[in-house]
Amino acid sequence: MQIQISKRMSKPDFQGEFVDAMLKAATAPDLISFGGGLPNPISFPVEDIEAAVNKVLQENGVQALQYSSTAGYGPLRSFIAKRYARFGVTLSADDIIITNGSQQALDMLSAVLVDPGDEVLVERPSYLAALQTFHLYDPEVLTVGLTESGADCDELEELLKHHSPKFFYAIPNFQNPTGLTYSKEVRERVATLVASTNMLMVEDNPYGELRFRGEGGESFGRYLGEQCCMLGTFSKTVSPGMRIGWIACPNRALMEKLLGYKQVMDLHTNIFCQMVLAQYLQDNDLDAHMTKIKNLYQHQADVMMDCIARYMPEGVRYTKPEGGMFIWATMPDGLSAVEVQNEAVKRGVLVTAGDPFYEKDRGVATMRLNYSNCTDEKIEQGIQILAQVIRDLLQARQG
Ligand SMILES: Cc1ncc(COP(=O)(O)O)c(C=O)c1O
Repeated sequence: MQIQISKRMSKPDFQGEFVDAMLKAATAPDLISFGGGLPNPISFPVEDIEAAVNKVLQENGVQALQYSSTAGYGPLRSFIAKRYARFGVTLSADDIIITNGSQQALDMLSAVLVDPGDEVLVERPSYLAALQTFHLYDPEVLTVGLTESGADCDELEELLKHHSPKFFYAIPNFQNPTGLTYSKEVRERVATLVASTNMLMVEDNPYGELRFRGEGGESFGRYLGEQCCMLGTFSKTVSPGMRIGWIACPNRALMEKLLGYKQVMDLHTNIFCQMVLAQYLQDNDLDAHMTKIKNLYQHQADVMMDCIARYMPEGVRYTKPEGGMFIWATMPDGLSAVEVQNEAVKRGVLVTAGDPFYEKDRGVATMRLNYSNCTDEKIEQGIQILAQVIRDLLQARQG
């Protein structure tokens, strides 16, 4: 018997070979890894979560172990809605759907909005797993470039003259992979351009709470109201393992469709985890917890930037993030990042070449460096090795 797989899952995996290579490399022992995107485990509030688990089971055990509603646990939805005030948006609990991580939100929006052949718009480069999700729905993926201060507005304006994407998927704060953040001016101009179309703005903001320097970060929801869906997650603030994210969707008609789809997918997100998280948030000060994480990441980012400045050969450019978990480095003379990645892994350092974050470009000279999950010593050692790899490859080219 031969199992008949659907056409959708029979397509060659979009970027599958890159992800395979990354995962294989990541399992090598003793590797210094700048390749992933993991929060630093020393930030996980294990004891406070244990206390929350006990309290939920003692006080509301039956509710926590029973089926629940698709939209999610009320107190958690309220907490999330209120917190949007700091990003300049007024929301109520009714605007929030709790999802299984923001990754599920990406699939829900694609399922509800995209028919085969529809245009969708993403940043260039963009979050790899978002690209993979969108590809399952057979869209035409359009891209708009990024500058130091966010989306290239002139390119966006020109593109919108000729195309009608269903949505613009953007990560405006400390973007994955580049670490770049939209300035206020760019936010305003992008919002004005989006407002002149029927396209939905999909703002993915997993890193917005991780600002360790500077200010800003207003949500597009502030400018666009119902024309904006805001995705969020507790993965980078409390725990990725709990798999709790959300969609904030002020548009009721869209909300109904998203709920309908989620109901079919999984009925609801794990209610036990939702209640434990809500209890944790009630009994602890999330801001104080965030201050600890931000201090940690600021230190790690500074160590990495300092080492890059000290050890990298001339011509290596890099972003200087004010938050989040990533630095985006560009090699001199168009040196291929895949070549650097392959050689670096042989010498014990894992980086992620830029290629899989692009819809089309290959052989790019950019790579992503993650600093959140390494000690100072490993960062210094890893950057020294990486610098030597780049020097050697540049020299091999000349010789
Ligand atoms: C931009 C972006 N969106 C979504 C996600 C998925 O996060 P979650 O753990 O909430 O599913 C990530 C995870 O790294 C991310 O970087």
